[in-house]
Amino acid sequence: MYEIAVIGGDGIGPEVVREGLKVLAAAAEMRGFSYRVEEYPYGTEHYLETGVILPEGTLDEFRQMDAIYIGAIGDPRAEVGLIERGIIGAVRWDLDLYVNLRPIKLYSERFCPLKGKKPEDVDMVFVRENTEDAYAGMHGFVHKGTPLEVSTQTMVFSRPAVERVIRYAFELARKRPRRQLTLIDKANAVRAHDLWTRAFAEIGEEYPDVTRDHAYIDAACMWMVKNPEWFDVAVTTNLFGDIITDLGAMVQGGMGIAASANIHPGRVSMFEPIHGSAPKYKDQNKANPLAAISAVQMMLDFLGEEEAAALVERAVAALLTGDRIRSLGAGVHGTDEIGNMVVEEMRRLADE
Ligand code: IPM
Ligand code: MN
Repeated sequence: MYEIAVIGGDGIGPEVVREGLKVLAAAAEMRGFSYRVEEYPYGTEHYLETGVILPEGTLDEFRQMDAIYIGAIGDPRAEVGLIERGIIGAVRWDLDLYVNLRPIKLYSERFCPLKGKKPEDVDMVFVRENTEDAYAGMHGFVHKGTPLEVSTQTMVFSRPAVERVIRYAFELARKRPRRQLTLIDKANAVRAHDLWTRAFAEIGEEYPDVTRDHAYIDAACMWMVKNPEWFDVAVTTNLFGDIITDLGAMVQGGMGIAASANIHPGRVSMFEPIHGSAPKYKDQNKANPLAAISAVQMMLDFLGEEEAAALVERAVAALLTGDRIRSLGAGVHGTDEIGNMVVEEMRRLADE
């Protein structure tokens, strides 16, 4: 029995999560596993009503569970980033979910904005470090609000955190047919990244079967658009990983389908779409739930329900390679309509 914590969150979060849970229910029924969902009401609305972002003890409750599933957090009615850091950030950092896994896979040429790029050209996984860098929270202001104001935010990299995420990336690369791992950094300008350069070279010695590659983040952005086929697995810092995976999401068809996993191997981990809360689409049945559905697929894989995960992936792939989905953008299909299509495809595939 899997115990799953669910936070629908803000904006379109609850709607896309509803479709994800529909797919989870169908997968459980078809593959014969059981689970229990505990829904948590946290998000901006809850904060504005109660003043509480994440009540004390919540993270301890999460530690007792098997997985956490989050829709989206963010709402302009609260201070910039406050609720995002207080919920998504707290879960990532306090539960030490040090790997942010972000696959970028194109299923059909017609969803790719790049001319001439085919599914075989876009199939990569980004391993984003998820606990440090500019996200570590070391920042401050002096003379705030005066003409002489200074603000700083320190990029933090510790040897253990860099090593563990690089090791995870090598292990992942080893399991994929191409066995290639690209380190993406900015060591030419940000000399602190020399720690990454050295750790990558040292750990790489333990993986002679994995081809090592390197790109500076600026060039990597160029390659993502020009030659996405060059990437297999890539490992990068928290901030660069945040930025380049939005670019990657577009290359695979848009924010509507990009999913992610926040993982600490062997511990409770968190699964979420990469997209934000898109408040303008809230409660309009316009948001594409495929990212949230693919996050469920990643959760099933993490839980060890590989067959169920594969069923969800095949259903999504069948939909994206077929002609039922006219566009992945918001408002073209209903949120529930796409959720239902995925479940129908799952039933069809299971009957085959
Ligand atoms: C993401 C988001 C978050 C991040 C925000 C909401 C803090 O953009 O998951 O990519 O920057 O990590
Ligand atoms: Mn982001």
